[in-house]
Amino acid sequence: MAKRKGITVSRQIMDSQLLHPGATGELTGLLNELIVAAKIISAEVNMAGLADILGQSGKVNIQGEDVQKLDEFANQTIKRRMEQCGYICVMASEEEEGIIPVLEGYEGKYSLAFDPLDGSSNIDVNVSIGTIFSIHRRVSSGKQGSAEDLLQKGSRQVAAGYIIYGSSTVLVYTTGDGVHGFTLDPSVGEFFLSHPDIRIPEQAKYYSVNESYTNYWYEPTRKFINYLKEVDPDSGRPYSLRYIGSLVADFHRNLIKGGIFLYARDRKSTDKPEGKLRLLYEAAPLAMVVEQAGGRAITDDGRRILDIEPRELHQRVPLIIGSKKEVDLAEQFFTASAK
Ligand code: AHG
Ligand code: MN
Ligand code: MN
Repeated sequence: MAKRKGITVSRQIMDSQLLHPGATGELTGLLNELIVAAKIISAEVNMAGLADILGQSGKVNIQGEDVQKLDEFANQTIKRRMEQCGYICVMASEEEEGIIPVLEGYEGKYSLAFDPLDGSSNIDVNVSIGTIFSIHRRVSSGKQGSAEDLLQKGSRQVAAGYIIYGSSTVLVYTTGDGVHGFTLDPSVGEFFLSHPDIRIPEQAKYYSVNESYTNYWYEPTRKFINYLKEVDPDSGRPYSLRYIGSLVADFHRNLIKGGIFLYARDRKSTDKPEGKLRLLYEAAPLAMVVEQAGGRAITDDGRRILDIEPRELHQRVPLIIGSKKEVDLAEQFFTASAK
């Protein structure tokens, strides 16, 4: 069914529920609750410079990273709302070491993993940041959910997406029937369909990588990035470098305009041999979005992100994600060296 610009996200979610006759409306309810949390975070992000909500919270999270006040605010906002929504049985957050239980009697049939605020280093300098979420069907029995409900491979996600707090607040998500973008009209507090059926351009316009790590890259990464930089006799330099340091912002630009984002393993992060990004609430949800939009997401040894069986909540994974043509090309560079 063709999607009409301007419909509300609640209407879109309801329409896609109608595509699934067995649907009980619980996923619809879950997404709507998550959207309320996103609206609250968006309002806070937009006021951050005025309220006393910029800067460090003084805490250090499980990742060993300084927690920004806005990280903490976003984390609490999602936790408080979702623990009593009745649609999930367990949660995991980038900001919390273990699984997060829901209120007794409010256990539902899904699990939720989220990065409450991605791109924290950019909060205080007014650069786009975002929230990333991943939803699975529960697999455990009993009342409270368990890690088992979260540690499922990405191809089993029932929904995934992100909210980017930028020049406008945009929600992009998929429930497996395409990718749709909604822009928040803060004057009425409603998300309206602005990007129906998003398809990532087959050919990238941008490449996104932290070039300051060049001297730490393994050979395949260096060769691939150098290849992207070579002048193409026919079309000149086809690619521009755009790297914001907020995965969700780099990913969103590449999704709309065409691009490839890389965060491969490198010699720099001996404490992060698998690279910096996390599988459960960064790589896997964005991999579902990009594949639904016609792109690809792999590791730097050619594995499909959505096929990886997670071992633990904060497991890191190398990530190469974006336009199909360039990810295919990257795969050749990375797997050729592995032979
Ligand atoms: P988070 O703020 O949730 O910890 O994520 C930050 C991540 C990701 O958003 C970004 O792509 C990456 O860190 C940037 O890392 P470098 O500064 O090492 O490039
Ligand atoms: Mn993040
Ligand atoms: Mn984060």
